[in-house]
Amino acid sequence: MADFQTVEVKTDLLICGGGMAATGAAVEAAYWAKQHGLKVTLVDKAAMDRSGAVAMGLSAINQYVGLKDGQNTIQDYVEYVRNDLMGVTREDLVANIARHVDATVHLFEKWGLPIWKDAKGGYVHEGRWQLMINGESYKVLVAEAAKNALGMENIIERVFITEPLLDDDKIAGAVGFSVRENKFYVFKAKAVLVSMGGAVHVFKPRSVGEGLGRSWYPPFNSGASAYFTLRAGCEMTCQEVRFIPVRFKDAYGPVGAWFLLFKSRATNGLGEDYMKTNADELKKWSSYGGVKPVPANLRNWLMMIDVMKGKGPVYMRTEEAIKKISEAEQDPKVRAKKLKELESEAWEDFLDMTVSQALLWAATNTSPEEKPSEIAACEPYFIGSHSGASGAWISGPADIQNDASKKDYFWGYPCMATVPGVFCAGDASGASSHKFSSGSFTEGRIAAKAALRYILDHKEEPQVDEAEVAKLKERILRPLDLFTQHKNASTDANINPHYLRPKQAMFRLQKIMDEYAGGVGTQFTTSRELLLKGLELIGMLKTDFEKLGAEDHHELLRAWEMVHRTWQAESHIRSILFREETRWPGYYFRADKPAIDEANWKVFVNARWNPETGDWEMSKKPIHQIFGTKSEGHH
Ligand code: ADX
Repeated sequence: MADFQTVEVKTDLLICGGGMAATGAAVEAAYWAKQHGLKVTLVDKAAMDRSGAVAMGLSAINQYVGLKDGQNTIQDYVEYVRNDLMGVTREDLVANIARHVDATVHLFEKWGLPIWKDAKGGYVHEGRWQLMINGESYKVLVAEAAKNALGMENIIERVFITEPLLDDDKIAGAVGFSVRENKFYVFKAKAVLVSMGGAVHVFKPRSVGEGLGRSWYPPFNSGASAYFTLRAGCEMTCQEVRFIPVRFKDAYGPVGAWFLLFKSRATNGLGEDYMKTNADELKKWSSYGGVKPVPANLRNWLMMIDVMKGKGPVYMRTEEAIKKISEAEQDPKVRAKKLKELESEAWEDFLDMTVSQALLWAATNTSPEEKPSEIAACEPYFIGSHSGASGAWISGPADIQNDASKKDYFWGYPCMATVPGVFCAGDASGASSHKFSSGSFTEGRIAAKAALRYILDHKEEPQVDEAEVAKLKERILRPLDLFTQHKNASTDANINPHYLRPKQAMFRLQKIMDEYAGGVGTQFTTSRELLLKGLELIGMLKTDFEKLGAEDHHELLRAWEMVHRTWQAESHIRSILFREETRWPGYYFRADKPAIDEANWKVFVNARWNPETGDWEMSKKPIHQIFGTKSEGHH
């Protein structure tokens, strides 16, 4: 530890993360900072070109509202999100992103992203809100724009943000370490924008053994946003709302293009369409079972019912969908051409964003036009940007509120958490699902603009307790010391009485979450008693983590990623426990509270870890409907 040099960086706005939200923040912050002579610094634990959830690329942009073309209204989008989340959503946040997201997509196109065009030059829609793209290099070109805006001198790559720094009850910066060099970083900032993604590998994944590490969400998103905001004392929301996507089995290829663009069906092993044969089940879930599209968790649920009855495997009927589209062409020549086109679109869908799914097709002799492919529900993920909702509880905009919502949802600066100076975007902010890549970038822009406004209003330099920083440095680097000191106590460095390695820590956490908190192994089912037992074991795991050992910089990163994940896990268990109902079957099922309870639980569940006492504070927060429903018109 002694040879770790301390590097101090003073800045006005610190952007933590380098994914879609952070790049949006960088582009926007650069513009406003220049006008006001402010400094903006961005820190990414990896290299921005290929970091974050969009690293591998995407085959579609999932949020485009089409306001200018009059295709949809903001209310349409809010209603879509409200319904998909079974009524639990912050309409002010969703609308704020929806009104700006189209402009973001137009920027992407200007920067060189190829968006599919139809014969008339319009965008090719995958579905109502989704656009098809040639998106293998999506992240590279968005990162390029962010780098050009901010300048490489203000971007620090390969530094892992570990802990927040506080100045009394407001943010003062963050500390972290280089994953390549012997450097410990102390960032002092007037505001911090948290955009460090969601969390994967909290639950035991389906992919084990040779496939270990494969997941739908990128494996490097390890709960840093949740940890940072929790440890700063921010109130969190929807920490019970995990996301379980249905994906092509084993390689996690996307299903959106098949369900929406190719209008494919999925059937069980007996050839039955579970969306039809299990349709009656929808009636049990209040009015949400009757909306179109059927909420994502209920689509999952209808499938899981058949899986639990042993009616698998479940198949995406690619062969049927391709046949149907091509056979609509009368002319045999046109039909043959159409078939080729569909085939290549099918492969590109995977090659754009999930190369390994294309490899799996090749390895299993699968031609999608001939043979269906298995689909399955993934392990749970924490993600505020897709169809999950976990994240910090943030202020909405001033102008998209009614009298009641303004009281509860607005405290001065859009995207600011409950701790002054902490701003959140993308997977870091909660209760505003369905922002995806374009909406996350948009929210980054909104948050950065608000953060700079906050800095102009709060010019005082942050005060950092240097003794506290010294303690943090010792604690953060301790796994390296533990390993070096004790590695010779046994003949196998993995089996040692003095430390546990991060991978072992990961297996322990995943086993607890799988068995007690409703993972794949328990068909996503849990109960009060199971959750309480899980909490007890998490408590013990956290004491074990005092003994994490790390061989090198990379393992030190892995060690702290596990600490971050464990805090995400704990707030998840506490939130599921607090919400005494089952609201999102298909994401999780509480066997002891097997029904939805609109009278008592149509509320947000918020959680806060109190940094002074170390206690968790759970609360209910009201859901205010700001926009109408189609049949009623605007409120
Ligand atoms: S992606 O993130 O991997 O691209 P996915 O392929 O599931 O997601 O879907 C892309 C988009 O289509 C998302 O907005 C998702 O909510 C939506 N979607 C996927 N399947 C369906 C379906 N069966 N009905 C309605 N919307 C769907």
